[in-house]
Amino acid sequence: MPEKSVLIAPSILSADFNKLGAEIENVTKAGADWIHLDVMDGHFVPNISFGLPVLNSISKITKIPIDCHLMITNPEQFVDKFAASGADIITVHAEASFHLERLLSHIRSLGKKAGISFNPHTGLEPLEYIMHAVDLVLIMSVNPGFGGQKFIESAAEKIRRVKRIASDHKRDIHIQVDGGITAENKDIVIEAGADVLVAGSSVFSKPDYKSAISALR
Ligand code: DX5
Ligand code: ZN
Repeated sequence: MPEKSVLIAPSILSADFNKLGAEIENVTKAGADWIHLDVMDGHFVPNISFGLPVLNSISKITKIPIDCHLMITNPEQFVDKFAASGADIITVHAEASFHLERLLSHIRSLGKKAGISFNPHTGLEPLEYIMHAVDLVLIMSVNPGFGGQKFIESAAEKIRRVKRIASDHKRDIHIQVDGGITAENKDIVIEAGADVLVAGSSVFSKPDYKSAISALR
């Protein structure tokens, strides 16, 4: 069977918000597979980005899956609203929930794909026990909060571990990596087992989105 090809999920955190609709249309035409939304609450991360009204509005014009990365405390209070506002994939942080298995199962019960994300310092132990409830694991390769940061190299080994755990549990999940991904380091994470690359500045800071996205595959 041929290897699954790598998916590219441009993060609109680095887009020009003055023309967000056109930015989404342009990256979609340029070959983006998913649109990545970085939702930040000023508590879980030291930054505030955007939330439900933006999701609601862009879900009406976006033709590819919308991938919501919730960098928020108390995600339990919000996942229903994100599901109702047009998210296709909802990823919560392992550090932000006391009852991860319940939360992930609930996301699935809403008919959405359930993702779990790990900050650079967080171990993967919980995964061993909740793999059955997970559709996607997101490994942070920067400390979340800002676009344009430098890739933390230990993420590659962590991706390898996720792949091993998934294979031990016979689970065919997405392994996503987020933060500082460029054409120069993408091979390291792909070789480690990532199949969804989030990319903010390495797409939106380039004049030609099509070649920027192709350079990441
Ligand atoms: C960081 C966000 C990332 C970020 C990626 O908190 O989760 O999605 O926008 O941006 P780059 O690719 O510029 O590191
Ligand atoms: Zn993100």
